[in-house]
Amino acid sequence: MSEPERTATDEVAARVEALRAEVAEHDRRYHTDDAPTISDAEYDELVRELRRYEDEFPELITPESPTRRVGAAPSTLFAPVQHLQPMMSLDNAFALDELVAWGERLERRLGAGRDDDPVDYACELKIDGVAISLLYEDGALVQAATRGDGRVGEDVTANVATIDTVPSRLPAGAPTVLEVRGEVFMSRPAFDALNERQAAAGERLFVNPRNSAAGSLRQKDASITAGRELSMWCYQLGAVEGAPPFTRHRQTLEFLAELGLPVNPEVRVVGTVGDVHAYCLQWERHRHDLDYEIDGVVVKVDGLARRGELGSTTRAPRWAIAYKFPPEERTTRLREIHVSIGRTGRATPYAQLEPVFVGGANVSQATLHNEDQVRAKDVRPGDTVIVRRAGDVIPEVVGPVLAERPPEAEPWAFPTTCPCPRASPLVRPEGESDTRCVDLQCPFQLQGSIEHFASRSAMDIEGFGEQRVRLFLDLGLVRDIADVFTVDWDQVRSLEGFGETSVANLQAAVDAARQRPLANLLVGLNIRHLGPTGARALAGAFGHLDRIMAASVEEMAAAEGVGPVIARAVHEWFADEGHRAVVEKLRAAGVNFTGPDRPRVEPVLAGMSVVVTGTLEGWSREEAEEAIKARGGKSPGSVSKKTTAVVVGEGPGASKLTKAEELGVPVLDEPAFAHLLSTGELPGVVEAEPSV
Ligand code: IVH
Repeated sequence: MSEPERTATDEVAARVEALRAEVAEHDRRYHTDDAPTISDAEYDELVRELRRYEDEFPELITPESPTRRVGAAPSTLFAPVQHLQPMMSLDNAFALDELVAWGERLERRLGAGRDDDPVDYACELKIDGVAISLLYEDGALVQAATRGDGRVGEDVTANVATIDTVPSRLPAGAPTVLEVRGEVFMSRPAFDALNERQAAAGERLFVNPRNSAAGSLRQKDASITAGRELSMWCYQLGAVEGAPPFTRHRQTLEFLAELGLPVNPEVRVVGTVGDVHAYCLQWERHRHDLDYEIDGVVVKVDGLARRGELGSTTRAPRWAIAYKFPPEERTTRLREIHVSIGRTGRATPYAQLEPVFVGGANVSQATLHNEDQVRAKDVRPGDTVIVRRAGDVIPEVVGPVLAERPPEAEPWAFPTTCPCPRASPLVRPEGESDTRCVDLQCPFQLQGSIEHFASRSAMDIEGFGEQRVRLFLDLGLVRDIADVFTVDWDQVRSLEGFGETSVANLQAAVDAARQRPLANLLVGLNIRHLGPTGARALAGAFGHLDRIMAASVEEMAAAEGVGPVIARAVHEWFADEGHRAVVEKLRAAGVNFTGPDRPRVEPVLAGMSVVVTGTLEGWSREEAEEAIKARGGKSPGSVSKKTTAVVVGEGPGASKLTKAEELGVPVLDEPAFAHLLSTGELPGVVEAEPSV
């Protein structure tokens, strides 16, 4: 029995119509205005929904549907140019199994894939930039055009001619006609530098490198483009006359490279779909190692005759596919902006968001860095914003979607007082980008600073964590870091939840901390810019806290491993009367002021390589890495087969986890990490008994 044929209901037809209008509008915003109002991932979802309906109800397909077309009509700002060969788009695969299915389908269709005649695939990075077609005639660059609707693009020759890596002349013997397709992009460092300049000039920030590349290409005044440091990778031939006959895509890329055109060095030609899969996985993991952005991998059949057999649809070739990485940017609504107070009093603005899944995690808060960033981005409560979570980097708000701004959205003003109950004034010193709470009694700051004082990289007081610090602060048992040594233990014993043993343990941990070496104490003092490395350098050079207190900025800066920034910060810290009073309380409590001592830790991790990913409770990333190195281990940024273990905190990098699983590298939680640090042993790994 055959399936009854389904016909589209009016409701489906209306939805399809609405989707088409929506996609066309987003095409226009992206391609013509360079001002997208949704993330690429959200756009892809709309197209996918439309495609699903069209697959199910082919009678609804029209030639104008965005699923049959490429890009958008060119704007009227630049002269139209007709491409010699149309610039096609690519079909997408959003998961690796879709990619594998594409390869299998294609091999079946070709009746190929046999051992004696494998289909070779060229795997290329999918550069996140703007597609451009270059036209060389008799070796001279005569035209550069955007893709436009695939047939007619915009003439951006003057702008593209400013790109250093795009030759204006090819060497002698170049083809008489050579149309080359590639992606113009902005590297991350160039993008960061551009945004720094924009911020300094009080100009609006660009949201990402792709957008700034597009904006830079669209300048009517090419001298502006020239100042924007654009680059290009060429990846495809268009029309050619007077070139040697090619049989393989790889030959065309080699040919372009020989002519001096920029061809990406990461292209690989592989013989199986399995190898394609591995290439994609590898770059999904390492995309952040590149200094330019990629949003996927493009896979192309290498053999040109086979491409001919497979042909194309109106929109995209059947011989290529784009595997898209999971998105790192999404849009969501910004509910409110707050500031958090760190342990040094730094006030960091952050956005409270409607939760959104991005970069492999649910994100409901994202940093806005500082006052200038909020101003430069002009994000306002109520805005739809672009949120970015890339790799292990903490989520950030990239910028607002202005087209979606509610009329009532007001610019946000940095608060003048601390959000803590004391509401002390927030101060932004002249010439600095950070705003701070300078009230040493600020409970938010105290909470952070005491937690830090007790943390492992500082005084290492087991059991003195966030909850207890909060409780002790609330009860007035501690008012600063020095009070940790003079807690009234009888009062603690009378508190609910504190048994005889837990109090004895806590007290013993506090007593033991008195003997920590000077470097640990210095870390615990919570001085800006001073981390474990600088603290060890200072302790090594001066040997006693009193000598550090008496040293000038120059004397400190002269010590190996201590720069002027640290020296100034340390000097300023000790110049403060309140801080000196705390130091005297520490002295009175019998805290050790000398060092370096013999290393407090044994090299239990010698020869081991431990990767940390995500946020841990007891260690900052820097502290965790320091702790590993202090014990003789290494802590690289990526997982390989040499990795001993991967330590996973909150919001780990998905790629590191996948790799660990793939390679069978043990994954440790925080308690297991603590165990590893103190013993050098992995949990569950017991020395094998010698066999008899
Ligand atoms: S080949 C007919 N190769 O991705 C084949 N495109 O989503 C045409 N892109 O329009 C494209 N890197 O703008 C190709 N290595 C690469 C690419 C690449 C980025 C862009 C290009 C294309 C879009 C399709």
